[in-house]
Amino acid sequence: MLKHKTHYGESLNLNWQSVLHVGTRVVVGKGTLAKLPDLLAQIDAGKKILLLKPPNLFIQEIDYLKTELHAKSISVHVLEIPDGEACKSIDYLIKVWNAMHQLKFSRKDTLVGFGGGSVTDIAGFAASTYLRGINLVTIPTTLLAQVDAAIGGKTAVNFHGGKNLIGNYYFAKAVIVDTDTLATLPRTQFTSGLAEVIKYALLEKTIANETEYSMGPRPLLQVLENSIADLAWNNELLPGILIASMKMKLAVVAQDALESGLRRCLNLGHTLAHALESTSNFALSHGEAVAIGIAFALHLAVSHKQLSESDSHRALNLLEVVGLPTKMSAGISVPILLDHLFRDKKREGEAIKMILPKDELGMVDYNELIKREEIEQRLTHFL
Ligand SMILES: NC(=O)c1ccc[n+]([C@@H]2O[C@H](COP(=O)([O-])OP(=O)(O)OC[C@H]3O[C@@H](n4cnc5c(N)ncnc54)[C@H](O)[C@@H]3O)[C@@H](O)[C@H]2O)c1
Repeated sequence: MLKHKTHYGESLNLNWQSVLHVGTRVVVGKGTLAKLPDLLAQIDAGKKILLLKPPNLFIQEIDYLKTELHAKSISVHVLEIPDGEACKSIDYLIKVWNAMHQLKFSRKDTLVGFGGGSVTDIAGFAASTYLRGINLVTIPTTLLAQVDAAIGGKTAVNFHGGKNLIGNYYFAKAVIVDTDTLATLPRTQFTSGLAEVIKYALLEKTIANETEYSMGPRPLLQVLENSIADLAWNNELLPGILIASMKMKLAVVAQDALESGLRRCLNLGHTLAHALESTSNFALSHGEAVAIGIAFALHLAVSHKQLSESDSHRALNLLEVVGLPTKMSAGISVPILLDHLFRDKKREGEAIKMILPKDELGMVDYNELIKREEIEQRLTHFL
């Protein structure tokens, strides 16, 4: 449930609560990092913070936070963990647990994940498991983590090369999305996040029909069609686009936190994406893989005559305009890809439950079982 409804604007401040009765304070906007001390007081946090971050980033921001927090008698310890996917390992998980142990953390003390989705994923899992759950705050700094990874309670580390094989659901007490942190984000990472934003545009009507999310005066799809080519961290439309995306995710998760039904729709493009990431040994970014996954879902929907070719082209065009791929590279082995696909959590025997656009852009069917033979045959023609 979104407890306090807000209109889209340049900032958002809400208390979100899921059916699991977990509350999260979410703040979005320019300069919102400065709200961390207040948020800690609101969640009745302890006097110690362990902050996880990637190396060589956010040095000034962290110096600033240290000063502000020390003034409130809160001690801040920083643990740098490797960049990207490399930090989501059992080895680093143990390092995080060790650090909390050495700091004599109590349950009220707070683990802060400050970085992209990799950092917020491991921070979430570490916080959920230490002392059976300590305070967690996420400060996502990539577009992808802001609209997706750092909100919604899924936490994970990788295991034996398999993505997100160890994880659980655990909700941050507070999420701070400061659009200024995106200033240093490389363009390719920004584009990767746009794949998730496009995903929300393709889900918006279904989410509006099935949750208490309400659409703004213009559908996100239309907003993106008019602006996506020029979107950047400091574009005036970005906060509204971010807020619409986050609200969609929070509305879905509020209703179906543990993915027994509706939440599956958020996996549009993701089943193939995860298999592609593993098959390419993570050479494809998450967003690039999601873009190909969305393109494949559009291809299936057109083949099943549940979406027009022109609608499919409209959606593909959004991906292509920002330089996201819509085809698999010829080097991908379909048998290896299928092998990864059929290890997915969405597998049901020799079929996979996929999310396919239906009737019009913005609407999806999130319960379509597609048999292995059909996936294999269509993938072969999708290269
Ligand atoms: N838990 C979930 O619901 C969920 C959802 C989607 C994705 N994920 C996970 O998120 C991860 C991908 O997240 P990501 O795309 O944010 O990638 P990432 O965390 O790997 O970060 C990408 C790169 O950007 C750098 N970076 C981060 N913020 C920066 C900034 N502001 N300026 C400059 N560089 C910056 C990082 O150091 C890294 O090199 C994957 O592991 C994926 O499984 C989780």
